Amino acid sequence: MRWMNLEKIFINGGTPLRGEVFVGGAKNAVLALLAGTILTKSTCRLENIPNISDVSIMLHILHQLGAEVRRVDKYAVEINTKYFDSGEVPYELTRHCRASCYLLGALLGRFGHARVAMPGGCDLGIRPIDLHIRGFEMLGATVTFEKNAIISMQSEQILGGPTHVEYSVGATINVMLAAVRASGVTVIENAAKEPHVVDLANFLNSCGADVRGAGTDVIKIHGVKELHGCEYAAIPDQIEAGTFMAAAAATRGHVLVRNVIPKHLESISAKLLECGATVEEFDDAVLVCAPTRLQRCNIKTMPHPGFPTDMQPQFGALLAMAQGTSILSESVFDNRFRYMEQLLRMGAQVKVDGKVAVIEGVEQLSGAQVKAYDLRAGAAMVIAGLAAQGVTEVESIAYIDRGYEDIVGKLRGLGADVARRDVKEYDVGEDARLAG
Ligand code: EPZ
Repeated sequence: MRWMNLEKIFINGGTPLRGEVFVGGAKNAVLALLAGTILTKSTCRLENIPNISDVSIMLHILHQLGAEVRRVDKYAVEINTKYFDSGEVPYELTRHCRASCYLLGALLGRFGHARVAMPGGCDLGIRPIDLHIRGFEMLGATVTFEKNAIISMQSEQILGGPTHVEYSVGATINVMLAAVRASGVTVIENAAKEPHVVDLANFLNSCGADVRGAGTDVIKIHGVKELHGCEYAAIPDQIEAGTFMAAAAATRGHVLVRNVIPKHLESISAKLLECGATVEEFDDAVLVCAPTRLQRCNIKTMPHPGFPTDMQPQFGALLAMAQGTSILSESVFDNRFRYMEQLLRMGAQVKVDGKVAVIEGVEQLSGAQVKAYDLRAGAAMVIAGLAAQGVTEVESIAYIDRGYEDIVGKLRGLGADVARRDVKEYDVGEDARLAG
């Protein structure tokens, strides 16, 4: 047993958020773009790169594998992978970032072989990569599973061909990375249509690739021999934007969310309107206002352009205080309601049955000590704390830092009474906790 230092976010809730907030570059686009830089020996300059830990980890992995990584300014990096090591990518590098699985497609596309340790799991349920593997095999790769969870792929030549990825974002991205330098034409059927899939296609085409149809169900890729470098700015983060929109509505605030692409936010805006908030769209901003108590609504998460699963926890928090009964159906992941047990600690009335949660809205949540189980669940705890009466302490905030740059600073800029603080807590030790 010992004392440990824990960093927590403290929120004194009940203040409507007011003002404007700027959204950063899209985490899930940037992670794919970083893998894409492996496909060229020339320098790529990437702009609108958010300062979040998932990006730092991916930059570290590239650097450890031989890439030259030069920070140009706070939001721009230059990367050159000319002397990239095509050897094994060990678990100690891949364990912290699921997007490291994109190294499979990028290494296969560049070198014709890859040996990458499976990334770690997370709290959303089992996250296999069978669709990725099937895509690589359709392109002519021989895939073997070695000890230490190493996936080894070998191919004399990557041959373009037909693949089905069942709307998996990761599989769509990974097959694109493997196919852009294949010989022949690759057709990806049932492709994911998320904005970050389109962003990767645009980046690859800026490097001289020939990717058509991104954003539709069918992506056609004519393989090219070489890719050159490029300068490319990542799209704004659809989920960071949606998170601030939900926070504005949950606190009955008035917030201009800037540096967004409104079209990427349509499903989120539609649900906020259904809940009684107003959403006014501008070229690169949305204004969210919610003066009264929100109304209930039902949500079913779907692949883009449906309601994004990465916004489900944030709306779970928002609907916990809405008038009436809401039903949340999570159709993408197996286990994305663990955060509900933390909302119960704040007085929410929710019941979860498998992939469906029924939320009886309450007038008021009360501040409590809660924890973040994953990145978006952490954001949900912050939203609940902002709207609750009293003080909420959120722990395990490293999850939040994976996808939100300076969330405390941005919320303080909107008038929230929020701070990060180190606290000393008595750690009874894992065994005792488990025994409890
Ligand atoms: C990406 O994960 C995102 N991560 C996730 O965002 C996001 O929730 C998810 O897409 C859905 O939009 C990154 O982009 C780094 P999937 P990914 O492949 O690629 C199953 C966040 O908070 N599946 O579309 O793993 C899978 O288990 C994170 O930013 C297979 O069965 O998502 C899941 O149930 C969380 N076999 C469903 O498909 C496979 O080979 C969707 O997964 C691949 C996926």
